[in-house]
Amino acid sequence: MSETSIQEPSVAGRVTDGQFRLLSAMPALSDCKYPEVRDTIPARVYTDPARYEAEVARIFRAGPTIAAPSALLPEPNTYHQVKIAGMPVLLTRNKAGKVKAFANVCRHRGMKLCTSERTEKAPRIVCPYHAWTYNLDGALVGLPRSETFPGLAKSELGLLELPCADAGGLIWVGLDADNPPDFSGVTGELAQDLDALQMGDAFLYDHATFPVKANWKLVMDSMLDSYHVTRLHKDSLAQFSVDSENQIDRIGLHIRNAAHRSNFDPALVSRDHDAMRRMMVFSYIGFPNGIIVVSPGYVSLGVVRPIAVDETAVDYYMLAQEKPQTEKAEGRLRRSMELMARVFGEEDYWAAAMCHEGIASGAISQVNLGGMEVQIRMFQDAVTDRLGEI
Ligand code: FES
Ligand SMILES: [Fe+2]
Repeated sequence: MSETSIQEPSVAGRVTDGQFRLLSAMPALSDCKYPEVRDTIPARVYTDPARYEAEVARIFRAGPTIAAPSALLPEPNTYHQVKIAGMPVLLTRNKAGKVKAFANVCRHRGMKLCTSERTEKAPRIVCPYHAWTYNLDGALVGLPRSETFPGLAKSELGLLELPCADAGGLIWVGLDADNPPDFSGVTGELAQDLDALQMGDAFLYDHATFPVKANWKLVMDSMLDSYHVTRLHKDSLAQFSVDSENQIDRIGLHIRNAAHRSNFDPALVSRDHDAMRRMMVFSYIGFPNGIIVVSPGYVSLGVVRPIAVDETAVDYYMLAQEKPQTEKAEGRLRRSMELMARVFGEEDYWAAAMCHEGIASGAISQVNLGGMEVQIRMFQDAVTDRLGEI
């Protein structure tokens, strides 16, 4: 799939052309045929410190990298901080409602400016150390005892602004202010699909961060194969899942996937997203670090943040179409949040950590992939492409 193909404009709640193509190719469950594949990936790609450093520099620092969902900043004059690949990042939605990104580093003596774990609402941010004060456009607007800094030009000491794009309900950043990334790969077809899923104006119901003792690619892999779903999740998700001949395509480096639910019926395929969400599952890998899974009542977003070669944090966000209006709706989302925390935290991320331990032992030189794991190959190839020669 190319970014430039001519499409119907995306409409919230209506399946896009690209999504419809995958939907239309889905066979009845009884006709599923699984690809036959024998493939391997060298174990060292998950444990080699030099490769990890290259991935941080050439993929995460270079960007575009997903920082958070736009819904994390629900209104003007809000801000939130997150650390991505070693860079403290401040995300703001300014007075006019525009999303911006900055290094979360005070220009006075380098203090982390925002230290709150929550989304804050205020038109200004005051550094906790000596109270230098910035607005949400990053300008230094005040400092105490300014007469003790003769000749200081406030206009030269604004926060370091980072390149940023707000598209399809995701905030993408580049972490190298001097070398802005090309955002065209995240603002085109991928954003149109996510807008159609109503991620652009989603309500953030809840979120949680999971520390995972695993290489970041093992966390991505744990979301990519359809092989494990009815097995690893036998006591949780399996009741809603079946083995499925997934329909998969690429949007640039991103991966789009359509999987069956047990009630999938090819005769009922339509452009109505709500109806489709009840009989199949769209999921996306937003390259390099976003995992999006579409459930009937909400969208799950995982933002994967590498910390070290063997350590990762995953921010899990539950995005609903609107704030629940009734106790019943609230209860449904609450139970879903509990289920997802268990499915991801105690099952998928646990499996990633256990794989890391096994692989890091040196006992195996490669991992094996079969026909229900072809997405892992696609993702690993995208990583390798971005690394270039190493
Ligand atoms: S380090 Fe921020 S005001 Fe001093
Ligand atoms: Fe899983």
